Amino acid sequence: MEDFIIGLDIGASLTKIVLVNERLEIIRRMVLPSMDPRETALRALNNLFSTIDSEDRAKVRMTLSTGGRSRFLGNEILGIPIMRVDEIKAIGFGGLTLSGRNNCLVVSAGTGTALVAVYDGGRAIRHVGGTGVGGGTILGLSRRMIGVYDFKVLEEMALRGDPSKVDLTINDIVGGSIGILPANVTASNFGKILGEASAEDVAAGIFNMVSQTIAVVAVMAAKAYNLEDNVVVTGMLAKSRLISRIIRETTDLFSVNVIIPDNCELAGAIGAIAVYLKEKGESDSKI
Ligand SMILES: Nc1ncnc2c1ncn2[C@@H]1O[C@H](COP(=O)(O)OP(=O)(O)OP(=O)(O)O)[C@@H](O)[C@H]1O
Ligand SMILES: [Mg+2]
Repeated sequence: MEDFIIGLDIGASLTKIVLVNERLEIIRRMVLPSMDPRETALRALNNLFSTIDSEDRAKVRMTLSTGGRSRFLGNEILGIPIMRVDEIKAIGFGGLTLSGRNNCLVVSAGTGTALVAVYDGGRAIRHVGGTGVGGGTILGLSRRMIGVYDFKVLEEMALRGDPSKVDLTINDIVGGSIGILPANVTASNFGKILGEASAEDVAAGIFNMVSQTIAVVAVMAAKAYNLEDNVVVTGMLAKSRLISRIIRETTDLFSVNVIIPDNCELAGAIGAIAVYLKEKGESDSKI
């Protein structure tokens, strides 16, 4: 009988759960808000099980958990053993698995932003660092500046807005390009906010600031770690059309190649399973 495995990534804001078979093919997936870790884990598993029949339920062997809020979940949930996987490893293997690369810089664009360098199919994994600028920054600033806290509403507003009403460009300062940068590139995020800027323009400025920061941090890390051809952007933020567009526009300026895989928001959850399967394979072959 085929075995099923669950990956559960309890992030700072959102919990991602995925049910896969041993070939890592996705059978079910869900995203829900993160609350108390054990309560969230229970809710995620119950929600998932409500969508499959008892035959498939019986195939589930294991839950692999990861994410900042995945500590203290105990050894089992709903009778299924649960094992915790280090989040850096999970992000690294998630990026590898989803992109099919052998070496890559994985950018986890979530509430905050984490960067993980992975080499040689995961035999070497380094936590490069990151930035506190991320999805939480978008929601926090927009709540205070324009009173909107819903990501989708905000994205729609940002798409209608004009960032040139809030951002100072290179052209605004020098009247043309400078060094490697074309005239339309941002010189100072929010450096020109005008009285006439609408809520939509401010939303566009917030999306610009966060996406450009993530992209520039990724570019610098990719260059320092020799991974310019293989930057894999994951996390829920990468699902946003606007964010991924701005990230690509920014990384293009520096000739860094960005991959945004399908299922990018599931990198942690799928990566946790990939780590488990790899370690299990290695220990099986040692016996
Ligand atoms: N529908 C959506 N599409 C794209 N981005 C979204 C959507 N809904 C929320 N977001 C953004 O995604 C962010 C959360 O991303 P993600 O779930 O990857 O992070 P997390 O795992 O909770 O946090 P971290 O990895 O930092 O612990 C939110 O802060 C929000 O800005
Ligand atoms: Mg996360």
